[in-house]
Formats: sequence, C-alpha cells, structure tokens
Amino acid sequence: MAQYTLNINNQDHEVDVAEGTSLLWVLREHLGLTGTKYGCGIAQCGSCTIHLDGAPVRACVLQVDHVANGQKMKTIEGLSESGNHPLQQAWIETQAPQCGYCQSGQLMQAAALLEQNPSPSRGEIKSYMNGILCRCGTYMRIIEAIELASETTTQNA
Ligand code: FES
Ligand code: FES
Repeated sequence: MAQYTLNINNQDHEVDVAEGTSLLWVLREHLGLTGTKYGCGIAQCGSCTIHLDGAPVRACVLQVDHVANGQKMKTIEGLSESGNHPLQQAWIETQAPQCGYCQSGQLMQAAALLEQNPSPSRGEIKSYMNGILCRCGTYMRIIEAIELASETTTQNA
C-alpha cells in the first residue's frame, strides 16, 4: 500500500491504495465519485472518461501512481457546480440519454472538444466523439446536443 495525493475537481484527496491500482477504482471505490462508469476496463468504450490536465483520458487504464504528481483531474462531478454546464443543459433539452450509462463519458469527451474547439463542425464532432460507445445508440441526439451547446456558448461569448 502507498499514500497518494490526487487533485480532483480542484480539491486534494489523500488515498491509501495498492500501487498500480486503476484510477477508476480509486475514484469510485475510495472517493465515492461514482459518476465515472466502468464499462470495458480496457480503454475501448469511453464510459470512464475524465480529464487529466484538460485532456480526455480513460481512467480504467490509468494507474494511480501515474497521476499523483500534481496533475489536475476533472470528473463529471466537477464539470459544473450545479449541473448547469452548457453541455448538461443541452443534454437535457435534447433528451440525449437513454439508459444513461455512457453519458458521463460522452459529456466529458464533449467538454474537452468544446474547450479545444468551441465551434466544431458536425464532422469534427463525429471524429472527436468516435470511440465513446453508446449501447443505446443515442449518437444523433448527442451530436445535436453538442451543436446546441456550441451555439449557446459562442452566442454568449
Ligand atoms: S471502462 Fe474505460 S474505456 Fe471502457
Ligand atoms: S444511453 Fe445507454 S449506453 Fe448510452
């Protein structure tokens, strides 16, 4: 066992876990941040997507040892203070989710896209979101939600 300090959602957390533990496991089982989901465990589905220093990463294949050196992580719980991020509002307006299981990963990937590129084309959205799987097939509503959030954000900028 080893002690690690993790900066998540702008807060430092101390955890005592075995070296090599998956970051996803630490988030869910040690810190109670269960918004990040376990899907495949092998970086193939995107359900566990979080941000590491602003970039989307798959938490299931990141070991805690590799992120405990001052890097900043953001999970779905830290995307906005009260669920009012433009993407979350667009998700509600377009009724994007079906079962909901993949949706925090979808939102975190989409948030990283809009931070890099506030006005993506439909092709850019499809390309960036490729690899975040939705077993319910909500892809078209997700694309519409991202376009809506992009319009809202750029209109208010
Ligand atoms: S659970 Fe991490 S990519 Fe599927
Ligand atoms: S909404 Fe069910 S897996 Fe995406």
